[in-house]
Amino acid sequence: MKLTISVLKADIGSPGGHTKPADKVLDAVRSTVSKARGKEVIDYLITYTGDDIAITMTHERGVNDHKIHQLAWDAFKEGTAVAQRRGDYGAGQDLLVDAPSGNIRGAGPAVAELEFDHKLSGERAAESVMIFAADKCGPGAYSLPVYLAFADPMYCGGLILKPELGKGFTFRIMDMDFAESDRLVDLTTPEEMYSIVGLLRDETRYAIEGIFSRAYPHQQVAAISTQRLHNIAGKYTGKDDPVAIIRTQSIFPAPEEIVMPWASVLPFVTGDCRGSHVLPITPYPVNTPVRSPYCQPIVSSLGISINREGRFSDEYVDFFADTYWEHIRRIAVEKGLSMRSQGWFGVAMANNAELSYTGLNKIYENLEKNGRFFNREKEGAAAAK
Ligand code: 13P
Ligand code: MG
Ligand code: MG
Repeated sequence: MKLTISVLKADIGSPGGHTKPADKVLDAVRSTVSKARGKEVIDYLITYTGDDIAITMTHERGVNDHKIHQLAWDAFKEGTAVAQRRGDYGAGQDLLVDAPSGNIRGAGPAVAELEFDHKLSGERAAESVMIFAADKCGPGAYSLPVYLAFADPMYCGGLILKPELGKGFTFRIMDMDFAESDRLVDLTTPEEMYSIVGLLRDETRYAIEGIFSRAYPHQQVAAISTQRLHNIAGKYTGKDDPVAIIRTQSIFPAPEEIVMPWASVLPFVTGDCRGSHVLPITPYPVNTPVRSPYCQPIVSSLGISINREGRFSDEYVDFFADTYWEHIRRIAVEKGLSMRSQGWFGVAMANNAELSYTGLNKIYENLEKNGRFFNREKEGAAAAK
Protein backbone atom coordinates (compact mmCIF):
# COMPACT_ATOMS: atom_id res chain seq x y z
CA MET A 1 0.00 0.00 0.00
CA LYS A 2 1.02 3.63 -0.46
CA LEU A 3 0.98 4.94 3.08
CA THR A 4 1.07 8.59 4.13
CA ILE A 5 2.03 9.88 7.55
CA SER A 6 0.62 13.35 8.20
CA VAL A 7 1.50 15.47 11.22
CA LEU A 8 -0.56 18.63 11.54
CA LYS A 9 0.03 20.90 14.50
CA ALA A 10 -1.60 24.04 15.86
CA ASP A 11 -1.66 26.20 18.95
CA ILE A 12 -5.33 26.75 19.74
CA GLY A 13 -5.01 28.14 23.25
CA SER A 14 -3.78 27.30 26.70
CA PRO A 15 -4.50 28.15 30.34
CA GLY A 16 -2.38 30.81 31.99
CA GLY A 17 -0.31 31.86 28.96
CA HIS A 18 1.54 29.94 26.21
CA THR A 19 1.82 26.81 28.35
CA LYS A 20 -0.09 23.65 27.33
CA PRO A 21 -3.49 22.78 25.91
CA ALA A 22 -6.20 22.08 28.47
CA ASP A 23 -7.38 18.46 28.76
CA LYS A 24 -10.88 19.35 27.57
CA VAL A 25 -9.41 21.02 24.46
CA LEU A 26 -7.37 17.89 23.74
CA ASP A 27 -10.52 15.79 24.24
CA ALA A 28 -12.39 17.87 21.67
CA VAL A 29 -9.58 17.46 19.11
CA ARG A 30 -9.32 13.72 19.83
CA SER A 31 -13.05 13.16 19.59
CA THR A 32 -13.24 14.85 16.16
CA VAL A 33 -10.31 12.89 14.71
CA SER A 34 -11.50 9.59 16.23
CA LYS A 35 -14.69 9.71 14.15
CA ALA A 36 -12.56 9.39 10.98
CA ARG A 37 -10.66 6.31 12.14
CA GLY A 38 -11.48 3.36 9.90
CA LYS A 39 -12.78 5.80 7.27
CA GLU A 40 -10.33 8.27 5.70
CA VAL A 41 -7.84 7.76 8.56
CA ILE A 42 -6.19 4.42 9.37
CA ASP A 43 -4.75 5.48 12.72
CA TYR A 44 -4.08 8.62 14.73
CA LEU A 45 -2.28 9.93 17.79
CA ILE A 46 -2.95 13.19 19.63
CA THR A 47 -0.02 14.67 21.58
CA TYR A 48 1.12 18.07 22.77
CA THR A 49 4.45 19.83 23.12
CA GLY A 50 4.18 23.06 25.09
CA ASP A 51 1.04 24.84 23.88
CA ASP A 52 0.91 23.03 20.52
CA ILE A 53 -1.32 20.09 19.67
CA ALA A 54 0.02 17.61 17.10
CA ILE A 55 -2.35 15.32 15.22
CA THR A 56 -0.37 12.43 13.74
CA MET A 57 -2.27 10.25 11.26
CA THR A 58 -1.71 7.39 8.83
CA HIS A 59 -3.84 7.10 5.70
CA GLU A 60 -3.77 6.19 2.01
CA ARG A 61 -4.85 9.53 0.56
CA GLY A 62 -1.43 11.03 -0.20
CA VAL A 63 0.10 14.36 0.88
CA ASN A 64 -1.85 17.63 0.78
CA ASP A 65 -5.13 15.74 0.78
CA HIS A 66 -8.15 18.00 1.15
CA LYS A 67 -10.12 15.59 3.39
CA ILE A 68 -7.22 14.90 5.76
CA HIS A 69 -6.38 18.59 6.09
CA GLN A 70 -10.03 19.54 6.54
CA LEU A 71 -10.34 16.91 9.27
CA ALA A 72 -7.40 18.42 11.16
CA TRP A 73 -8.82 21.92 10.64
CA ASP A 74 -12.25 20.84 11.96
CA ALA A 75 -10.58 19.21 14.98
CA PHE A 76 -8.61 22.39 15.72
CA LYS A 77 -11.82 24.42 15.31
CA GLU A 78 -13.69 22.17 17.77
CA GLY A 79 -10.79 22.51 20.22
CA THR A 80 -10.75 26.27 19.73
CA ALA A 81 -14.46 26.51 20.61
CA VAL A 82 -13.73 24.74 23.91
CA ALA A 83 -10.66 26.94 24.56
CA GLN A 84 -12.79 30.04 23.93
CA ARG A 85 -15.48 28.90 26.35
CA ARG A 86 -12.82 28.16 28.96
CA GLY A 87 -11.23 31.58 28.45
CA ASP A 88 -7.85 30.05 27.56
CA TYR A 89 -5.13 32.37 26.39
CA GLY A 90 -4.61 32.59 22.60
CA ALA A 91 -7.70 30.51 21.74
CA GLY A 92 -7.42 29.67 18.03
CA GLN A 93 -4.03 31.41 17.84
CA ASP A 94 -2.65 29.50 14.83
CA LEU A 95 -5.87 29.37 12.79
CA LEU A 96 -5.05 32.42 10.70
CA VAL A 97 -7.74 32.23 7.99
CA ASP A 98 -11.52 31.81 8.19
CA ALA A 99 -11.52 28.62 6.13
CA PRO A 100 -8.65 26.87 4.40
CA SER A 101 -8.85 26.48 0.63
CA GLY A 102 -8.00 22.90 -0.35
CA ASN A 103 -5.30 22.14 2.16
CA ILE A 104 -4.19 23.88 5.35
CA ARG A 105 -0.66 24.76 4.25
CA GLY A 106 -0.68 28.56 4.40
CA ALA A 107 -3.59 28.70 6.83
CA GLY A 108 -1.52 28.67 10.04
CA PRO A 109 -1.03 25.08 11.25
CA ALA A 110 2.36 23.43 10.72
CA VAL A 111 2.30 20.52 8.26
CA ALA A 112 4.80 17.66 7.76
CA GLU A 113 3.77 14.80 5.48
CA LEU A 114 5.57 11.88 3.93
CA GLU A 115 4.31 9.16 1.55
CA PHE A 116 6.01 5.83 0.89
CA ASP A 117 5.45 2.34 -0.45
CA HIS A 118 4.53 0.38 2.69
CA LYS A 119 5.47 -3.21 1.87
CA LEU A 120 7.29 -4.37 5.02
CA SER A 121 9.68 -6.31 2.81
CA GLY A 122 12.92 -5.63 0.91
CA GLU A 123 14.72 -2.51 2.04
CA ARG A 124 12.05 -1.81 4.70
CA ALA A 125 11.23 -5.03 6.53
CA ALA A 126 9.84 -2.99 9.44
CA GLU A 127 8.68 0.62 9.56
CA SER A 128 9.92 2.65 12.54
CA VAL A 129 9.27 6.33 12.68
CA MET A 130 10.14 9.24 14.94
CA ILE A 131 7.76 12.16 15.35
CA PHE A 132 9.33 15.40 16.57
CA ALA A 133 7.46 18.46 17.78
CA ALA A 134 9.07 21.68 18.98
CA ASP A 135 7.62 24.70 20.78
CA LYS A 136 8.81 28.36 20.94
CA CYS A 137 11.03 28.20 17.85
CA GLY A 138 11.06 28.22 14.03
CA PRO A 139 11.59 25.41 11.47
CA GLY A 140 15.36 26.11 11.38
CA ALA A 141 15.57 24.69 14.92
CA TYR A 142 15.81 21.19 13.41
CA SER A 143 18.51 22.08 10.88
CA LEU A 144 21.70 21.43 12.83
CA PRO A 145 20.72 18.25 14.75
CA VAL A 146 19.06 16.73 11.67
CA TYR A 147 21.94 17.67 9.36
CA LEU A 148 24.48 16.12 11.76
CA ALA A 149 22.47 12.90 12.10
CA PHE A 150 22.28 12.46 8.32
CA ALA A 151 25.63 13.84 7.18
CA ASP A 152 28.30 13.62 9.86
CA PRO A 153 29.91 10.30 10.92
CA MET A 154 30.79 11.93 14.25
CA TYR A 155 27.08 11.59 15.07
CA CYS A 156 25.95 8.86 12.69
CA GLY A 157 28.38 5.94 12.57
CA GLY A 158 26.01 4.28 10.09
CA LEU A 159 27.37 6.57 7.37
CA ILE A 160 30.57 4.51 7.37
CA LEU A 161 29.21 1.23 8.75
CA LYS A 162 26.32 0.75 6.36
CA PRO A 163 26.90 1.16 2.59
CA GLU A 164 23.31 2.29 1.90
CA LEU A 165 23.76 5.20 4.31
CA GLY A 166 27.24 5.89 2.97
CA LYS A 167 25.79 6.77 -0.43
CA GLY A 168 24.51 9.90 1.24
CA PHE A 169 21.22 11.80 1.25
CA THR A 170 19.52 14.52 -0.75
CA PHE A 171 18.49 17.50 1.36
CA ARG A 172 15.55 19.57 0.07
CA ILE A 173 15.98 23.03 1.57
CA MET A 174 13.31 25.74 1.67
CA ASP A 175 14.00 29.46 1.35
CA MET A 176 11.48 30.62 3.96
CA ASP A 177 11.92 34.31 3.12
CA PHE A 178 10.33 33.73 -0.26
CA ALA A 179 6.69 34.05 0.77
CA GLU A 180 5.03 34.23 -2.71
CA SER A 181 5.67 30.59 -3.59
CA ASP A 182 7.84 27.63 -2.55
CA ARG A 183 11.52 28.29 -3.40
CA LEU A 184 13.53 25.10 -2.91
CA VAL A 185 16.95 23.65 -3.61
CA ASP A 186 18.02 19.97 -3.64
CA LEU A 187 21.59 19.41 -2.43
CA THR A 188 23.37 16.11 -1.83
CA THR A 189 25.74 14.83 0.82
CA PRO A 190 28.62 14.28 0.97
CA GLU A 191 29.59 16.26 -2.18
CA GLU A 192 27.60 19.43 -1.53
CA MET A 193 27.84 19.58 2.24
CA TYR A 194 29.47 23.02 2.25
CA SER A 195 26.57 24.44 0.20
CA ILE A 196 24.09 22.81 2.59
CA VAL A 197 25.90 24.25 5.62
CA GLY A 198 26.18 27.62 3.86
CA LEU A 199 22.38 27.79 3.70
CA LEU A 200 21.40 26.08 6.96
CA ARG A 201 23.64 28.36 9.02
CA ASP A 202 20.93 31.00 8.51
CA GLU A 203 18.29 29.30 10.67
CA THR A 204 15.60 31.96 10.26
CA ARG A 205 15.77 31.91 6.43
CA TYR A 206 16.58 28.34 5.34
CA ALA A 207 15.30 25.04 6.70
CA ILE A 208 15.27 21.40 5.67
CA GLU A 209 11.89 20.47 4.18
CA GLY A 210 12.68 16.89 3.23
CA ILE A 211 15.47 14.30 3.06
CA PHE A 212 15.67 11.49 0.49
CA SER A 213 17.87 8.39 0.34
CA ARG A 214 20.45 8.38 -2.46
CA ALA A 215 20.76 4.59 -2.34
CA TYR A 216 16.96 4.32 -2.79
CA PRO A 217 15.90 7.66 -4.31
CA HIS A 218 12.18 6.74 -4.18
CA GLN A 219 12.46 6.64 -0.37
CA GLN A 220 11.79 9.89 1.46
CA VAL A 221 13.34 9.65 4.91
CA ALA A 222 12.29 12.87 6.56
CA ALA A 223 9.70 15.63 6.27
CA ILE A 224 9.80 18.84 8.32
CA SER A 225 7.21 21.63 8.42
CA THR A 226 8.56 24.91 7.06
CA GLN A 227 5.52 27.17 7.54
CA ARG A 228 6.34 30.63 8.89
CA LEU A 229 3.43 32.32 10.61
CA HIS A 230 4.71 35.86 10.03
CA ASN A 231 4.65 35.23 6.26
CA ILE A 232 0.94 34.44 6.55
CA ALA A 233 -0.11 37.05 9.13
CA GLY A 234 2.37 39.80 8.14
CA LYS A 235 3.13 40.33 11.83
CA TYR A 236 4.15 38.33 14.87
CA THR A 237 1.19 36.21 16.02
CA GLY A 238 3.07 33.37 17.76
CA LYS A 239 6.00 31.17 16.87
CA ASP A 240 5.97 28.58 14.06
CA ASP A 241 6.70 25.61 16.35
CA PRO A 242 7.61 23.05 13.70
CA VAL A 243 6.92 19.30 13.51
CA ALA A 244 8.97 16.60 11.80
CA ILE A 245 8.68 12.98 10.70
CA ILE A 246 11.85 10.90 10.45
CA ARG A 247 11.81 7.25 9.30
CA THR A 248 14.52 5.24 11.04
CA GLN A 249 16.52 1.99 11.04
CA SER A 250 17.85 -0.32 8.28
CA ILE A 251 18.62 1.95 5.27
CA PHE A 252 18.16 5.09 7.38
CA PRO A 253 19.93 6.39 10.51
CA ALA A 254 18.92 4.69 13.78
CA PRO A 255 17.01 6.57 16.51
CA GLU A 256 20.10 6.54 18.72
CA GLU A 257 22.03 8.30 15.95
CA ILE A 258 19.22 10.76 15.34
CA VAL A 259 18.97 11.80 19.00
CA MET A 260 22.76 12.04 19.51
CA PRO A 261 23.13 15.63 18.20
CA TRP A 262 20.23 16.77 20.39
CA ALA A 263 22.34 15.71 23.39
CA SER A 264 25.67 17.18 22.38
CA VAL A 265 24.80 20.34 20.46
CA LEU A 266 21.79 22.04 22.14
CA PRO A 267 21.84 24.79 19.51
CA PHE A 268 20.81 28.35 20.29
CA VAL A 269 17.72 29.07 18.18
CA THR A 270 15.43 32.01 17.59
CA GLY A 271 12.07 31.95 19.36
CA ASP A 272 11.43 31.88 23.10
CA CYS A 273 9.56 34.70 24.82
CA ARG A 274 7.54 36.65 22.20
CA GLY A 275 9.45 34.78 19.49
CA SER A 276 12.08 37.48 19.79
CA HIS A 277 15.00 35.94 21.65
CA VAL A 278 17.71 33.32 21.31
CA LEU A 279 17.97 30.32 23.66
CA PRO A 280 19.09 26.69 23.36
CA ILE A 281 16.47 24.17 22.28
CA THR A 282 16.00 21.60 25.03
CA PRO A 283 14.76 17.99 24.76
CA TYR A 284 11.71 17.18 26.94
CA PRO A 285 9.22 14.29 27.13
CA VAL A 286 6.15 14.52 24.97
CA ASN A 287 3.12 16.19 26.63
CA THR A 288 5.27 18.64 28.62
CA PRO A 289 4.06 22.20 29.29
CA VAL A 290 6.38 25.19 28.80
CA ARG A 291 6.86 26.85 32.21
CA SER A 292 10.46 28.06 32.07
CA PRO A 293 11.65 31.70 32.25
CA TYR A 294 11.60 33.29 28.83
CA CYS A 295 9.98 30.16 27.35
CA GLN A 296 13.19 28.31 26.54
CA PRO A 297 12.31 26.28 23.42
CA ILE A 298 11.57 22.58 23.82
CA VAL A 299 11.53 19.56 21.51
CA SER A 300 9.87 16.16 21.97
CA SER A 301 10.53 12.92 20.15
CA LEU A 302 8.30 9.87 19.90
CA GLY A 303 9.32 6.48 18.45
CA ILE A 304 6.53 4.42 16.89
CA SER A 305 6.27 1.30 14.75
CA ILE A 306 3.71 0.87 11.99
CA ASN A 307 2.17 -2.54 11.27
CA ARG A 308 1.17 -4.10 7.95
CA GLU A 309 -2.24 -2.38 7.98
CA GLY A 310 -0.72 1.04 8.62
CA ARG A 311 -1.66 1.17 12.31
CA PHE A 312 0.63 2.55 15.00
CA SER A 313 2.03 0.20 17.62
CA ASP A 314 -0.11 0.43 20.76
CA GLU A 315 3.06 1.17 22.74
CA TYR A 316 5.47 3.90 21.80
CA VAL A 317 8.80 5.17 23.10
CA ASP A 318 9.22 8.69 24.42
CA PHE A 319 12.93 9.19 23.72
CA PHE A 320 13.54 12.35 25.72
CA ALA A 321 11.74 10.91 28.78
CA ASP A 322 14.80 8.85 29.68
CA THR A 323 16.64 10.03 32.83
CA TYR A 324 19.73 10.54 30.62
CA TRP A 325 18.11 13.73 29.36
CA GLU A 326 17.86 15.24 32.86
CA HIS A 327 21.60 15.81 32.70
CA ILE A 328 21.27 17.32 29.19
CA ARG A 329 18.49 19.62 30.37
CA ARG A 330 20.71 20.92 33.19
CA ILE A 331 23.37 21.83 30.62
CA ALA A 332 20.69 23.56 28.53
CA VAL A 333 19.51 25.54 31.57
CA GLU A 334 23.11 26.72 32.20
CA LYS A 335 23.46 27.72 28.54
CA GLY A 336 20.10 29.49 28.60
CA LEU A 337 20.83 31.43 31.80
CA SER A 338 24.18 32.45 30.41
CA MET A 339 22.54 33.98 27.34
CA ARG A 340 19.74 35.56 29.40
CA SER A 341 22.30 37.33 31.57
CA GLN A 342 22.81 39.84 28.75
CA GLY A 343 19.07 40.57 28.49
CA TRP A 344 18.19 42.62 25.41
CA PHE A 345 21.71 43.12 24.19
CA GLY A 346 23.11 41.88 20.86
CA VAL A 347 22.69 38.20 19.99
CA ALA A 348 20.43 37.55 23.01
CA MET A 349 17.59 38.96 20.91
CA ALA A 350 16.46 37.73 17.47
CA ASN A 351 18.00 39.22 14.32
CA ASN A 352 16.58 42.40 12.80
CA ALA A 353 14.65 40.60 10.03
CA GLU A 354 12.77 38.57 12.68
CA LEU A 355 12.20 41.57 14.91
CA SER A 356 10.79 43.58 12.00
CA TYR A 357 7.53 41.64 12.53
CA THR A 358 7.28 42.87 16.13
CA GLY A 359 6.30 46.15 17.81
CA LEU A 360 9.97 47.08 18.11
CA ASN A 361 9.52 48.79 14.75
CA LYS A 362 7.30 51.37 16.45
CA ILE A 363 10.26 52.62 18.52
CA TYR A 364 12.33 53.20 15.38
CA GLU A 365 9.36 54.66 13.46
CA ASN A 366 8.49 57.13 16.23
CA LEU A 367 12.09 58.33 16.53
CA GLU A 368 12.16 58.88 12.74
CA LYS A 369 8.69 60.47 12.60
CA ASN A 370 9.46 62.90 15.43
CA GLY A 371 12.79 63.89 13.85
CA ARG A 372 14.82 62.69 16.82
CA PHE A 373 17.82 61.62 14.72
CA PHE A 374 20.03 64.48 13.53
CA ASN A 375 23.03 64.90 11.30
CA ARG A 376 25.93 66.34 13.29
CA GLU A 377 27.35 68.40 10.42
CA LYS A 378 24.07 69.83 9.11
CA GLU A 379 21.79 70.06 12.14
CA GLY A 380 24.05 69.45 15.14
CA ALA A 381 24.27 73.06 16.26
CA ALA A 382 20.49 73.51 16.11
CA ALA A 383 19.81 70.23 17.96
CA ALA A 384 22.12 71.19 20.78
CA LYS A 385 20.15 74.35 21.55
P1 13P B 1 3.74 30.22 21.06
O1 13P B 1 4.14 30.45 19.64
O2 13P B 1 4.16 28.88 21.54
O3 13P B 1 2.28 30.47 21.20
O4 13P B 1 4.51 31.23 21.97
C1 13P B 1 4.33 32.58 21.71
C2 13P B 1 5.01 33.51 22.62
O5 13P B 1 5.06 34.68 22.25
C3 13P B 1 5.61 33.06 23.89
O6 13P B 1 6.19 34.14 24.60
MG1 MG C 1 0.71 30.05 22.22
MG1 MG D 1 3.66 27.07 20.70
